Amino acid sequence: MVIKPRLKGSLALTAHPAGCEEFVKRQIDYVKKSDKYSGPKKVLIIGSSSGYGLASRISLAFGAGADTIGVAFEKGVEGKRVGTAGWWNTVAFTEEARKEGLIAKNFMGDAFSDEIKENVIEYIKKEFGGKIDLLIYSLASGVRTDPKTGITYRSALKSTTNEIEGPTINLEKENIENGKMEVATEEELISTVKVMGGEDWKLWIEALDKADVLTEGFKTVAYSYLGPKVTYGIYKEGTIGAAKRDLERTSNELNDYLGKKYHGEAYVSLSKALMTRASAVIPVFPLYAALLYKIMKEKGIHEGTIEQKHRLLKDMIYGDHKELDSDRRLRPDNWEMREDVQSAVESLWDKVTPENFKELTDYAGVREEFMNLNGFDFDNVDYDQDLDLDELAAKKI
Ligand code: NAI
Ligand code: NA
Repeated sequence: MVIKPRLKGSLALTAHPAGCEEFVKRQIDYVKKSDKYSGPKKVLIIGSSSGYGLASRISLAFGAGADTIGVAFEKGVEGKRVGTAGWWNTVAFTEEARKEGLIAKNFMGDAFSDEIKENVIEYIKKEFGGKIDLLIYSLASGVRTDPKTGITYRSALKSTTNEIEGPTINLEKENIENGKMEVATEEELISTVKVMGGEDWKLWIEALDKADVLTEGFKTVAYSYLGPKVTYGIYKEGTIGAAKRDLERTSNELNDYLGKKYHGEAYVSLSKALMTRASAVIPVFPLYAALLYKIMKEKGIHEGTIEQKHRLLKDMIYGDHKELDSDRRLRPDNWEMREDVQSAVESLWDKVTPENFKELTDYAGVREEFMNLNGFDFDNVDYDQDLDLDELAAKKI
């Protein structure tokens, strides 16, 4: 089987297993060449298969020698379908980690369910040495079933003020379209907070605490985003911003609880804007990213997912460069938010048109990163190769 990229809007419909392997290996190489850190030994990552969760797992394993448990919602080969990028990322990570003698255990299923929490806890107790010292919470999901009530909530990427129109990049058509964001109903706002807020993070910590599998000094970090003024309407003041504020409230509750009981800590970390599966579909966001990449690359301060997470973990969480803001949030987005960066982005923002965006922004860089997420556009991967589905299906994680 030969796999070609297929896009629908800014969603990728196919993924290339050999390219995903290359994607993971390049991140591992980056960490191997970078400075190391110590502290994390037994780590649980929720949302471990792509984007920021995957990069965190790679940094922790290859930068600090940590054993990891990953939880993600991905599928391998089914019939003629080759499976998701996150599955193949996980296969590649697991093979490489085990080569180094590290434990890499994976749970593929719904992180929001009680069942997966029970299974993970049982595994920690029986086979993972009994306790974890770090939990990374990096979920991005559109739907969540509340395990207590059985009610299913769907998140909505909408405005909470007024209808917003703005330019956005369509990666399939490679053009700029007018993105529209409608105003959320009260129910949509509540649902988005249910899906993307802090409730499930707290349920994980409560379950792990009750099962007595947290170490003294246990830490937990959840990933969030704030973004600059040009995206306030769609992000900070949107339904997703409300969910992220709920996540921040939860971090403070958890920090108090964990501090008292374990001398532990809970943080929200505001990461830099990057192209991932989750962010590519947010209106306006890809165009902002394309402008930001251009400016940050010109200034020599651009970072990808792995650079962001390695810096967060090595310098801030386990190092002595903890950049906390007045709301007690970790700020690895500090370079994105620099005054000179944002004013350069703003002045370009006013000049961008559907005709000139490929020249004026780093569209090529954004597109390449997006294709790489699904294993495409690597110069050293042979995309004409005929992949054997049976051989791929036999790969276990
Ligand atoms: P992503 O889409 O690359 O990763 C999401 C992960 O969640 C995947 O591992 C997926 O398998 C997993 N997942 C989704 N639903 C699940 C479920 N029901 N059960 C188990 N696993 C499930 O997303 P990305 O961008 O890495 O986002 C992760 C976090 O980082 C989010 O909270 C996001 O808001 C935040 N973030 C993202 C930024 C960006 O620019 N992409 C910037 C700052 C923060
Ligand atoms: Na992630």
